[in-house]
Amino acid sequence: MNTIQLRTAIPGPRSRALMARREAAVPRGPYNSTPIFVASAEGATLEDVDGNRYLDFAGGIGCLNIGHRSPRVTAALREQLDKHLHVCFAVTPYESYIAVAEKLNALAPGKFPKKTIILNTGAEAVENSIKIARAYTKRPAVICFEDAFHGRTLLAMTLTSKTHPYKAGFEPFASDVYRIPFAYPYRAEKGATAESFAHYLEDAFKRVVAPESVAAVIAEPVLGEGGFVVPPRDYFAILQKICRKHGILFIADEVQSGFARTGKWFASEHFGIEPDLITMAKSLGGGMPIAAVTGRAEIMDAPGVGALGGTFAGHPLSCAAALAAIESIEQDGLLARSTALGKHFEERARGWQQKWPLVGDVRGLGGMCAMELVRDAATREPADAEAKELAHYCYEHGLITITAGTFNNVIRILVPLVVTDAQFDEGLDVIEAALASVPDRKPVAVSHA
Ligand SMILES: Cc1ncc(COP(=O)(O)O)c(C=O)c1O
Repeated sequence: MNTIQLRTAIPGPRSRALMARREAAVPRGPYNSTPIFVASAEGATLEDVDGNRYLDFAGGIGCLNIGHRSPRVTAALREQLDKHLHVCFAVTPYESYIAVAEKLNALAPGKFPKKTIILNTGAEAVENSIKIARAYTKRPAVICFEDAFHGRTLLAMTLTSKTHPYKAGFEPFASDVYRIPFAYPYRAEKGATAESFAHYLEDAFKRVVAPESVAAVIAEPVLGEGGFVVPPRDYFAILQKICRKHGILFIADEVQSGFARTGKWFASEHFGIEPDLITMAKSLGGGMPIAAVTGRAEIMDAPGVGALGGTFAGHPLSCAAALAAIESIEQDGLLARSTALGKHFEERARGWQQKWPLVGDVRGLGGMCAMELVRDAATREPADAEAKELAHYCYEHGLITITAGTFNNVIRILVPLVVTDAQFDEGLDVIEAALASVPDRKPVAVSHA
């Protein structure tokens, strides 16, 4: 039997009524990619307030790698509810915070001694990683990348690349942030290599900022909001070597790519690198808000006592959930599952690419996979309206999916890794039907007579 069960037109009457209340009571700023209000969720499925059941390929933007209401997480939360809620780690500490830190220190790449600070959100982890890097190096500047996304707070937004909707109108930004092109093979000049991409960093040292002023380079090993762009395999090793030469720290922002999304604990492992600091959030919490920065112990200890933290950072419920989420990834074989799902997506998407020129690029690492839609294979004109229509078709047919990319033309897969084979194919069938339904909008030839 199909998982998707639609009983009303989408959105249904209850969702429509809630949307009217939402529009009256909540500002337009927080975007809703689908107009469907959720009543319950389980594994890779969502049920809305009108009794319609959907497959969820968005996972709350990559936060549900272990699935909605994972049994280990709900059991851990119930247990913690009977012990204590917020007491504040800065006032009266508790063991689960330390247990999460110990676990992350052991999981993060690198055999050197590590320490971890726990926070609430990805943006907070990014902000703290820069504070720590500046405290350690005693240097001001940070280098980040085009097409990067690091969050919505002032420094994280400054590090983010895309102008609309993230930055426009929110100037002035934080100072001492410099941006270089990312290794984006599909949109790069022909023949670009890991070395030529990495050269942008050395070039920046001559053109925009002296290396001795730079505290850190921060990069997503696989771009998340930027469109699931995967750099060449030796790119980050070259970047990190350049950083080391100049005493610059390398920060991997693994907020979206971490915790089995790419088939490993951290995407950094695919590139054979050991970042000095790693930022994490999203799927670390198995559905609860939690974030962390893990890094070399001597770097993490640079800020003084009281310089880092936050009232709710490392909430007992979130720590309990994180320990359960990590256990689920370990016990349920989700690293291998992610790799298998990515392979299956690639097989099907390559077939779509043969059939529909709209599918310009198929890419990914493990279960962090995507396709970039274009109007013309030669010019690679981004098919943004088509991507929006495709996502719209999908939710109207029972599949929740989200777009990405600086040009809004990437369909990304963030399906909970506990999805069954049958459910995954059912969802991919909806995408295939959507591709067949999206009208071909080839650019009209312009005469230059
Ligand atoms: C790579 C990356 N860094 C940071 C963030 C910000 O995380 P949050 O929304 O939890 O602040 C995100 C969110 O999508 C992200 O993908």
